[in-house]
Amino acid sequence: MTSKDSPLTVIILAAGLGKRMKSDLPKVLAPICGRPMVAWVIDEALALKPERILLVVGHGRERVEAALHEQGLLSSVELVMQAEQRGTGHAVQMCLPALKGVRGRIVILYGDMPLLRAETLRSLCALQRQSAPRGAAILTASPEDARGFGRVLRYGSGERQGQVEKVVEERDASPEIRAVREVNTGVYCFDAPGLLEALPRLATDNAQGEYYLTDCISLFQAAGRPVIPLETAELDEIIGVNNLKHLAEARWAVQMRILEQHLMNGVRIEDPATTYIDHGVTIGVGTKILPCTVIRGGVRIGTGCEVGPFTQLRPGTVLEDGAEIGNFTECKNARIGGHTKAKHLAYLGDVTIGAGANVGAGTIIANYDGVKKHKTTIHDGAFLGSGTVVVAPNTIGAKATTGAGAVVTRNANVGAGEVWIGVPARRLERRAAGAAADRAAGAKAAGASAAGASAAGAKAAVTKAAVTKAAVTKAAVAKAAGAQPRTRSSTTQPRPAANKLSLGGRQTAKTGRKR
Ligand code: UD1
Ligand code: CA
Repeated sequence: MTSKDSPLTVIILAAGLGKRMKSDLPKVLAPICGRPMVAWVIDEALALKPERILLVVGHGRERVEAALHEQGLLSSVELVMQAEQRGTGHAVQMCLPALKGVRGRIVILYGDMPLLRAETLRSLCALQRQSAPRGAAILTASPEDARGFGRVLRYGSGERQGQVEKVVEERDASPEIRAVREVNTGVYCFDAPGLLEALPRLATDNAQGEYYLTDCISLFQAAGRPVIPLETAELDEIIGVNNLKHLAEARWAVQMRILEQHLMNGVRIEDPATTYIDHGVTIGVGTKILPCTVIRGGVRIGTGCEVGPFTQLRPGTVLEDGAEIGNFTECKNARIGGHTKAKHLAYLGDVTIGAGANVGAGTIIANYDGVKKHKTTIHDGAFLGSGTVVVAPNTIGAKATTGAGAVVTRNANVGAGEVWIGVPARRLERRAAGAAADRAAGAKAAGASAAGASAAGAKAAVTKAAVTKAAVTKAAVAKAAGAQPRTRSSTTQPRPAANKLSLGGRQTAKTGRKR
């Protein structure tokens, strides 16, 4: 867009108070699909390849600055302070010191119009360049409901017929003018020297006592600089966010654009209406996204994965090719290896899981001890039985197995190929167990696996055998020791099993967590 003789400057107005949002957050930071509203506007501005982008901000400047920094956009813009909001014209006047001697064209945008596309702006700039190189082009529209907008008055005859004579704000308009349906979207492409000339001449003799940027139009015409309209039919593009209802509408429209993009890329989104995918998510070809799924910003998903229904993938999640994350499973800061499955009811936070692992229903990675978050690593081919709790920090070795309901206490560090069971989980040592117990467990396990329809097959059988064995042995141990049967009041929790199966160096595992 920028050329030597016609450099482009973009000014984004974003100092408005946004009182109707009923929030302390500067309006332009209201989130839309995982990023602040103004970031969407800056993206479109950047697509025009301008020399500079000036962003006019008011109160909450520090927060805007911090948010832009976080988005990696701070270096793309120059912030201009408008301490007091005295109108759109005043906001642009604040840029005058930064604009001394500027040539080419100046495009004006609003920070609260997140849906305007660069394509539309390109057409506006092209029109200005071709038909009014010393003048301006103004983006207009004719929405069903023109309330709140300035009305566009065109010359009806003469050599300027069809050009814009002026824009009249609703508060200043007569009933006849209010009946005009064509409105000012607030987006313009001005000849830069013309705008620099007009800005100091703005006055406040209007109903709101503000400096109206719209007055530049009549000033342009008076100076013999033509102002021509570009009427857009894309009414969704001109949604300006002034309240939470507008925000919800804008979010929906942005969301549909994001989903369309993924669909075009070959992502199988079964039900776009119930799928939430933020900005900046990458998804490989052929991956299925099932209904009621929420995927937050920055998540990366490989090819041939399946996500959902009812899944939440939070920031920091990476799914490698073929991974499957099913219903009521939440991932946060989780790297899930290729073809690993976590199909039901799990929380996987701050964890790296290798390839080909199976995460049983109801598995929880207890990553938070009340003060700090801790990391867990689960290696390739591990099998976590249903209802396993892994207290972080921890490691589960390759092809290790945990029994259903096992609580793997912090730093227990299950070794490769080991089987751990119980609460707190202990390593199961086949040799240590009595032959009788082994036989009993084996018989029971065989029965259980025949009766059960578990797809996990052999592994599930091992797990069940382990659990059964634990129970058998516990009884045997208690008997041998002549222990009194434990009595439990209804208010006490069952105590952890005094599991004698797994003594080898693993007894140091602690129960519970430190607060
Ligand atoms: C303005 C136009 C109106 C147009 C409407 C489209 C003027 C005088 N009127 O209305 O013709 O139909 O936009 O939405 O220009 N802002 C500042 N500083 C200020 C005032 C506003 O930065 O002192 C920013 C706001 O943050 C917002 C944009 O300018 O992004 C528009 O402000 P708003 O008050 O919504 O527009 P109006 O002046 O009512
Ligand atoms: Ca507005």
